[in-house]
Amino acid sequence: MYSVGVPVHLVEHPLVHDALTILREASTPPELFRRMAVRISLLLAAEATKDLSAAPVTVTSPLGPAAGRRITSDVVVVPVLRAGLGMLDAVLELIPSARVGHIGLQRDEITAVASRYYSKLPKDLHDSFVLMIDPMLATGGSAVVALDMLREVGARAARMICIVAAPEGIELVERQHPDVQIYTPVVDQGLNDHKFIVPGLGDFGDRLYGTH
Ligand code: PRP
Ligand code: URA
Repeated sequence: MYSVGVPVHLVEHPLVHDALTILREASTPPELFRRMAVRISLLLAAEATKDLSAAPVTVTSPLGPAAGRRITSDVVVVPVLRAGLGMLDAVLELIPSARVGHIGLQRDEITAVASRYYSKLPKDLHDSFVLMIDPMLATGGSAVVALDMLREVGARAARMICIVAAPEGIELVERQHPDVQIYTPVVDQGLNDHKFIVPGLGDFGDRLYGTH
């Protein structure tokens, strides 16, 4: 069993759970599904970036000098293709200066084992704040492969944002990458015989892009 509270941040915001409930509903059409994916990703990304470093600055408001803070962290956001792309615009809306790396993984339909088909990652990740985005953490196989790839190019502790997690996936990530913090609204019951999350929301990529 994974140790709740150590690497897992359960995001309780009611707007997150409102969007999640619409995403779960089987009759939600792709257009609404995409909108809710953006909305929930904005809220989750805000939570996962709460401690970004910032420097004090002074700006001039129409009424005079005002003390403020500007983000100084170099943020690298890494969507895991294809479903992670549905979360990317939301993160870039919050952090427009972020660099973006792409990792393409595909779970085999029978074995559920993830294999790589694409990778393009920014250089010099050592001191970056790395945010991996993939909506579904099921067996954890994809997340571990993606995190291995990030570690190979020098990323230190990464954070992962997902929309639905299964206990099996959290346990595997915790075992293989104990320094990774996971942000999710929910940890569901478990996996079915096809390694889909139950109750989950089905195949995120297919629902996002209408490819059922
Ligand atoms: C989904 C999802 C994750 C993975 C999770 O992607 O987006 O990447 O499955 O499953 P796991 O934890 O058991 O590895 P999928 O491989 O279906 O590809 P897609 O994003 O192209 O639909
Ligand atoms: N990928 C999905 O999109 N959904 C699941 O439940 C598991 C893997």
